[in-house]
Amino acid sequence: MNKPRIDQDIVTRSVDQRVGELLGRMTLAEKIGQMNQVHSDGAGVDHLRGSIQSGRIGSVINEVDVETVNELQRIAVEESRLGIPLLIGRDVIHGFKTVMPIPLGQAATWNPEIVREAARAAACEAAASGVNWTFAPMIDISRDPRWGRIAESFGEDAHLTSALGAAMIRGFQGDKLTGRDSIAACAKHFAGYGACESGRDYAATNIPENELRNVYLPPFKAAVDAGVCSVMTSFSDLDGVPATANEFLLQQVLRDEWDFDGLVVSDWDSVRQLAIHGLTENDKASALAAVTAGVDMEMVGESYLHHLAELINEGRVDESMIDAMVSRILRVKVSLGLFEHPYTDPSTLPAIANADVMETARKAALQSVVLLKNDQQVLPLSSQQLKSLAIIGPLADAPYEQLGTWVFDGDERLSVTPLRAICDLIGESVNVRYVRAMKTSRSRASDEFDEAQQIALESDATILFLGEESILSGEAHCRADIDLPGDQADLVRHVAVPGKPVIAVIMAGRPLTLTNVLDHLDAILYAWHPGTMGGAAIADLLFGVESPSGKLPVTFPKMVGQIPIYYNQKNTGKPPSPETTVNIDSIDARAPQTSFGMTAFHLDAGYEPLFVFGHGLSYAEFEYRKLQLESPQIQLGDTLRVSAELTNRGEVAADEVVQCYIRDLIGSVTRPVKELKDFRRVRLVPGETREVTFELPTDKLAFHGRGGGSVVEPGAFHVWVGGTSETELRGEFRVISPTDEA
Ligand code: BGC
Repeated sequence: MNKPRIDQDIVTRSVDQRVGELLGRMTLAEKIGQMNQVHSDGAGVDHLRGSIQSGRIGSVINEVDVETVNELQRIAVEESRLGIPLLIGRDVIHGFKTVMPIPLGQAATWNPEIVREAARAAACEAAASGVNWTFAPMIDISRDPRWGRIAESFGEDAHLTSALGAAMIRGFQGDKLTGRDSIAACAKHFAGYGACESGRDYAATNIPENELRNVYLPPFKAAVDAGVCSVMTSFSDLDGVPATANEFLLQQVLRDEWDFDGLVVSDWDSVRQLAIHGLTENDKASALAAVTAGVDMEMVGESYLHHLAELINEGRVDESMIDAMVSRILRVKVSLGLFEHPYTDPSTLPAIANADVMETARKAALQSVVLLKNDQQVLPLSSQQLKSLAIIGPLADAPYEQLGTWVFDGDERLSVTPLRAICDLIGESVNVRYVRAMKTSRSRASDEFDEAQQIALESDATILFLGEESILSGEAHCRADIDLPGDQADLVRHVAVPGKPVIAVIMAGRPLTLTNVLDHLDAILYAWHPGTMGGAAIADLLFGVESPSGKLPVTFPKMVGQIPIYYNQKNTGKPPSPETTVNIDSIDARAPQTSFGMTAFHLDAGYEPLFVFGHGLSYAEFEYRKLQLESPQIQLGDTLRVSAELTNRGEVAADEVVQCYIRDLIGSVTRPVKELKDFRRVRLVPGETREVTFELPTDKLAFHGRGGGSVVEPGAFHVWVGGTSETELRGEFRVISPTDEA
């Protein structure tokens, strides 16, 4: 058997030269082997040994035992003819052993830097297990909270998702891919997966090309620009063609328009599922469809392994196409430095859950929590004034549940729960009593409710820890009813003692409809699933060690029937306004058809959500003033500077996320009523005033127009700066073309 020859000459040659040379030595079977990813799932090495030795496996998914990984690599490197190391793939979605907030929570930080840091920490921990490829970030635009995978997303907005997706990629891939703690990232799921009908996972999507290009594709373009190593196809069907066989997406957009030269991997068995979709007749036809569309590697399923050679022999697939695909796979392996360093020595990498990683997890959680409501400023609580505190609810002390979905490797023993953190913070001076009241968030038993009420009555304040367990969100975990599950709303009503502050901390993988509990609660902190250090962050926020600073990355509906509801909707020809709202109970049965203004709203829900995109309160009081535009008009190609004055009129230092929106008033295709264009997290001490300036090059105003391409159309625009998408601080400007001026 030929042993690998990693001589210095090979090391110093360019990636493409090395890939070309290797490819020249490969048999067709070895090439097809590289395109095959198999599942390990902890079954050890023996069932894979023969296939790796014969070069029939290019990648293994779901093996994280470092000794097993090293042995698999050793077999590949020492016992296969060409010694090509393996890509070891794993879903490192929001942390590894140390768990960061779910991506939707990370999105609520509006902080690319903390997202990058969190991914960096996750990459270091995962790399210590021999993982060199993660299937993240998920950058599917998600406007439907019923969809379980909204938890894995960065929410509803293309600009925010683009910025955070790129940051996460930079975090995983590090400064240089050859770093021992760098792992290849994968932008998924290309494309449109989040638009599944009725928020039911895997359901078909119906996205017109204009919407696809203006909303769903930009984050993927940003990922490509950020140098992402790989892209995963979606399970879903786009305009009748499942993404895994969609040439328009994979060839026209990704390769031809964007020049992406990284690796495209299918989703789990999604090649063979083409037949289940009803697109192909059998696995062989599925392999043909996927390979022709441009899927380089098949994630489990083995239809490539079993059918590609035959398809090539029959002349239905050109071997040069296979060469290009295998080159892309090899390029990732060479770029990661796997040929030089196929093995992992965990002792050369930072320790798992070290102090820096825990601090990153705490900071990320801290910035992700959104203060939705704070009547009479009941928060922060004061440990000096409080003598007793009731802590109630199924999620106050649930180390696993605070981690959220996709935590294959997350270690719940590291979790700091809110109960523990609160006791550590104030337990000496305040009498803290705890009643779980419900076994799980879904329980339908109220036998502990009286006891919960009792401690609420006997305490100065009550904090309820509510929401949904990890298992209620994530892949294939969609809900049609997104109220607080089980008897939680009853529990809220039971313990809400008039005259005493009742605060809810809600942990969930999605926006929940909170309409039925809102009025019973004085304050709500929305904590998503905050991860390992969630409890510590929550305790600091409750007691004012820090001010909340998260902002919603997704709109909260009042009720399910409003979905999809998102801030950057179209105006319609009959936009609603506050005057057109009506109370359904008071409608006269014989009222004329036109009496409610004939606009785009629901009789029973109005047109406004419960909480808007970008919303999030603070313990500080931020005032925005003096919106200034450097010029009332700019030429195409120039940059507009927009600034506003921000003052902290409160009594505490706090972070604020300043948001900049625009509206393109007239377009060749209708434009949204608002579009986020930039944002910045700033920190102001009490009394401080800061001018925050955004630069808007006209490129940022581009959209996919009626003519087909990306255009910036001259004309009138509005621009807003503020702390929510509802801000009223507005200016106007015009974009002019050189001919306008002449
Ligand atoms: C998911 C992917 C994931 C893959 C591997 C699939 O079911 O859709 O997002 O990366 O499994 O675990």
